[in-house]
Amino acid sequence: MLCLGIETSCDETAVALFENGRPVLEKLASQADLHAVFGGVVPELASREHLRRLGPLLLALFAESGRSLADVDVIAVARGPGLLGSLLVGLAAAKGLSLATGKPLIGVDHLHAHLLAATIGREVPFPALGLLVSGGHTQIVRLDSALSLEVLGRTLDDAAGEAFDKAAKSFNLPYPGGVYIDVLGRGIAPDKTLFPRPFLDNDHLDFSFSGLKTAVASYAAAHPELRAGSLAEAGGAIDPEAWPMALRRACSSLNFAIADTLRIKFERALDRPPGPPASLIAAGGVAANGPIRAMLADLAARRGLPLYLPEPALCADNAVMVAAAGSRLAEAGYAHDLTLTAVPRGRK
Ligand code: KG4
Ligand code: ZN
Repeated sequence: MLCLGIETSCDETAVALFENGRPVLEKLASQADLHAVFGGVVPELASREHLRRLGPLLLALFAESGRSLADVDVIAVARGPGLLGSLLVGLAAAKGLSLATGKPLIGVDHLHAHLLAATIGREVPFPALGLLVSGGHTQIVRLDSALSLEVLGRTLDDAAGEAFDKAAKSFNLPYPGGVYIDVLGRGIAPDKTLFPRPFLDNDHLDFSFSGLKTAVASYAAAHPELRAGSLAEAGGAIDPEAWPMALRRACSSLNFAIADTLRIKFERALDRPPGPPASLIAAGGVAANGPIRAMLADLAARRGLPLYLPEPALCADNAVMVAAAGSRLAEAGYAHDLTLTAVPRGRK
């Protein structure tokens, strides 16, 4: 089965072909540079940019893969959560293609697709305990199968990615700043008491990162020496040596605070009924973070469980994961009709 996947939920415009459990080709255009000037995603600009880029990306996908629209068996599209205007662009394109070809249409949950990115090309044993960490969401999810999910915990306010991005803003780093915090902290021992590990003094599985955001902002305001210069001053690249040591230590300490907060709640979920899962998975843009990946590898080894992480390129928003999820749903007999709507709000 050849599945076309379309992803336009936030600031990545992406299309991909997926066949027999493997990606064939993806074409992706990031809008990060466009929004960086504003320090965050501007929804109206994002929708317009998806509209401008989606058609040419589809043409390039077919030209470069040597496949044609007529070869496609099913059309999958991310229906949310995400920005409403952005989702509508992808949905309208998918419906047009489905209408023109008569091929089935499948609306995919963006968060489910993130989690399934960890299963691409692998036989992941279920039940699995999943950690979904992205710019918009932080969830602990139990997956009884690839298509059966239960959310056990979620953030009550900011997502882990927001905590990274807002901290980066406090440090004068570019948007989206998670990758800067990750890279600048490399090789530097964290000060484990510098930042709080928030919202652990309770017995549930939810998260709250807003207190950490405030703590980092206060710390940055009190320590002007660690506020970065402009990216241009650093030579335009993420060269850790080019940045102040005080900033690098703060980044390493923040990586630790977020990774350890995630670890504590994830381990708490592991110890809860109905007993240990057969595997661990993690996904979402923040799952590309080095210290978080290392923390998960350590946890999995201690618990004797296999760990499945998407390769870093499949952690961030992409269309391969949408096509992978669409393929699984289609194989299980699911399809939508042309009344399919966007679901912009999912609970974080
Ligand atoms: O999954 P994603 O691409 O988009 C959403 O669905 O939200 O996640 C984007 C988030 C941003 O907050 C970004 O700063 C963060 O993932 N991120 C990282 C890293 N790479 C991306 N955070 C920490 N370390 C990274 N290496
Ligand atoms: Zn996402």
